[in-house]
Amino acid sequence: MQLTLTPATRGLRGTVTLPGDKSISHRALMFGALAKGTSRARNFLYAGVTQAMIDCLRALGVSAEISTAGELIVQGGEWRAPDTPLDCRGSGATMRMLLGALAAQPFSSTLTGSPGLLRRPMGRVAEPLRRMGAHIAGQNGSDQPPLIIRGGSLHGIDWALPVASAQAKTALLIAALFGEGPTTVREPGPSRDHTERLLRALGVSLKSENNTVTLNPDRHTLPAFEMDIPGDFSSAAFPLIAASLVTGSDITLQSVGVNPTRTGLLDVLLEMGADIQVMNERESGGEPVADLIVRASHLRGSTVRGERVVRMIDEFPIFAVAATQAEGETVVRDAAELRLKESDRIGSLVAELRKLGARIEPLDDGFIVGGPTSLRGARVASHGDHRLAMALAVAGLIAEGETIVEGAECIEESFPDFVASMKLSTRPRVLCAGVDDC
Ligand code: S3P
Repeated sequence: MQLTLTPATRGLRGTVTLPGDKSISHRALMFGALAKGTSRARNFLYAGVTQAMIDCLRALGVSAEISTAGELIVQGGEWRAPDTPLDCRGSGATMRMLLGALAAQPFSSTLTGSPGLLRRPMGRVAEPLRRMGAHIAGQNGSDQPPLIIRGGSLHGIDWALPVASAQAKTALLIAALFGEGPTTVREPGPSRDHTERLLRALGVSLKSENNTVTLNPDRHTLPAFEMDIPGDFSSAAFPLIAASLVTGSDITLQSVGVNPTRTGLLDVLLEMGADIQVMNERESGGEPVADLIVRASHLRGSTVRGERVVRMIDEFPIFAVAATQAEGETVVRDAAELRLKESDRIGSLVAELRKLGARIEPLDDGFIVGGPTSLRGARVASHGDHRLAMALAVAGLIAEGETIVEGAECIEESFPDFVASMKLSTRPRVLCAGVDDC
């Protein structure tokens, strides 16, 4: 599918309701599948990435359904050996979280996925799981998937992750639930803490401070639960930056998760001069939630590095688009992890934004953008990366002439209603670039 865009001729206006948070949806599914009984999660993200986990869990004997109202209903408990390899498609979270869970199951299984997923690093999870007692074999003696897992009895470990990664941390905490003795996971930065929040709510004994979490597996069976999933801040980032950049915009993003381990982008944009008001702060499903009012603004360049990178790790494609419109230089460092995401997000971002006329230079661990630049429409490619595709679509709203985003079907992976939410059009011409009143 290709998405064709022409510049927004007037401001974006209206209210946007966002899909459920991807990370929390994955956790609701996984912990629901491990819990005994029927768990329910409202505002579940039903998209490509969660479908991958649903299919794998079904192959393991778990029943998972989505009601017409968008509620996940999952019946967990004992898992059975799958008949065929489990296909995680393009979902890193699915592969890593399942790896943690399968390490503790008394049967053998194989995890595989799309070519893109097979190149992503799994050693950061496989190696500590082996130390816990699991048998995991990758291709040709490496940790490269497909991975063959022979699960069994595990024991706790004290492990320092080489990079801050919530997926790796979560995989180890899942395995730790079944292990003998406590498990401690240390991280070099503050990765998202949705797993800790949910496990605590389920009564698991868990201590966390200074990027270190210790889980005591005092109960092996998780209780079933009900929860509400907040809107995904990472999806909100697209309309948020679109409204910041398109003159005359004034939009409201409703019920967005504003967990501080996720809102690095908000902090940076506010420092850059963005006009964002955080309203009605409240708690829902154990997570902080708010409504965001965003108006067009004039941005100044900024430097992003250190812990903040972890707190906005999924937002760099759209952040780079914002940086092209900011006055002065924007520098991103300490972000080498971007090369290991759905695409090499430094290489792909630089290649595609340059086609639109952006001044962007790659660094080993980030990039430098000069601004402001008048972007010009061009034919650009998604590299199969949902966040790059959406970032390029937003760039198309401010670029002169026509922008064509090829391979835009990957947007379905995390934000199936993106086009409708942004009131874009998949037809050859954008009919309307406003949010609400077209
Ligand atoms: C996620 C954690 C992040 C993020 C990904 C979802 C999660 O990955 O990029 O989109 O749900 O825990 P890492 O933990 O690998 O950094």
